[in-house]
Amino acid sequence: MTPRAATALAQDLDYPSQPNDLSAFWMPFTANRQYKARPRLLVGAKDMHYTAVDGRKILDGTAGLWCVNAGHCRQPIVDAIARQAATMDFAPTFQMGHPAAFEMASRLVEILPEGMNHVFFTNSGSESVDTALKIALAYHKARGDAARVRVIGRERGYHGVGFGGISVGGIVANRKQFGQMLPFVDHLPHTHLPAKNAFAKGEPEHGAELADELERLVTLHDASTIACVIVEPVAGSTGVLVPPKGYLKRLREICTKHGILLIFDEVITGFGRLGAPFAAQRFGVTPDLITSAKGLTNATVPMGAVYATRAVHDAIVNGAPEGAIELFHGYTYSAHALACAAGIATLKLYREEGLLERARDLETYWQDAAHSLKGLPNVIDIRNLGLVAGIELSSRPGKPGARGYDALVACFEKGLLVRVTGDIVALSPPLIVEKKQIDQIFETLGGVIRALA
Ligand SMILES: Cc1ncc(COP(=O)(O)O)c(C=O)c1O
Repeated sequence: MTPRAATALAQDLDYPSQPNDLSAFWMPFTANRQYKARPRLLVGAKDMHYTAVDGRKILDGTAGLWCVNAGHCRQPIVDAIARQAATMDFAPTFQMGHPAAFEMASRLVEILPEGMNHVFFTNSGSESVDTALKIALAYHKARGDAARVRVIGRERGYHGVGFGGISVGGIVANRKQFGQMLPFVDHLPHTHLPAKNAFAKGEPEHGAELADELERLVTLHDASTIACVIVEPVAGSTGVLVPPKGYLKRLREICTKHGILLIFDEVITGFGRLGAPFAAQRFGVTPDLITSAKGLTNATVPMGAVYATRAVHDAIVNGAPEGAIELFHGYTYSAHALACAAGIATLKLYREEGLLERARDLETYWQDAAHSLKGLPNVIDIRNLGLVAGIELSSRPGKPGARGYDALVACFEKGLLVRVTGDIVALSPPLIVEKKQIDQIFETLGGVIRALA
């Protein structure tokens, strides 16, 4: 596409494709001054590609931000949103309801792990995390266990940006600027063991025993003070950390033994990323609560959701007096009509195209392609599962993140969108990716890594 065609693409929109001023938009999770000195603008998207403002096609190696699982601008979803916007734009869900909300929840239950029957809608992953933590506290309180207020996260965990999420999260930079706001928090050690597991394919062999650290925390704090443990089944944002074989099962057993709720943060792993609807199914471990967002609506309309087992839901809902609001929590936009319409169309598309299982079929091909980068300069680890891969580069002395950033820019210039966390390149394409596009992703990245000092 030429620059002129890219401008034409945006002609029907109410804004220019080349903004006159970049200063007003305070960009999230971005080095604002660095970006604005050398902006990268995306103006269009279809299926596996973005269109840059200069007309170049950019292969989407990251499904946007791990969220456009069915590919971009899929017609059935576009149509569903337009129809809903023209029929009923918004309806409250506080003491009111609309059919799409109930339908969306029921369809989600069909793909959830056995025993998870209830859905609480939010607008983002961060809100889902805060909601799940609050549900955990409410559950224990409803059962007369109100002293269980401690929440346990894990080092190198990312759980969004709410005060709850940063408290249980384990990304140092997130916590440094704001401190830790929840008073009763502790953390499990992360499971990244490069000395033993570097270049492991799929689930690494070593480290299941790290789950036993939860026993240590139980001894330290006493189970009677611990409400929940929250982990990402595969940690995404801190660089694709795949759990060691047996680790999650062990965590489940210890939580069950001590009456602690287990929360899986599946904001990234949900909706087919690992070749099953949720990581819980992929690993055969059912938590008490699951958080999600991103792929829920194929990222077309912001939406998040928390899924609860019947036991958790019933303890809170059936335990309250008749006529009382059982969970004092919710958002104006919980189950927004446009998001529900988008979500229903998304789930249908996932089912019709087998997208929630497709990553399993492509996994070996993807894994081989990712590990073909082993041996390139500065590549110190490669990790993968489902349609996710992390390629870790060594840091330049005294300049952590510089090599990763250069890789991002060089890939973009060569027509590939990647995500970087420090010096780790993360890849997670839309689940419609074809083998030749997988080849293109790793050939492009390989060329960039070879050329980088
Ligand atoms: C595991 C996990 N939890 C929570 C979040 C936060 O989601 P959001 O950015 O939609 O608030 C993310 C975002 O990447 C995530 O990866």
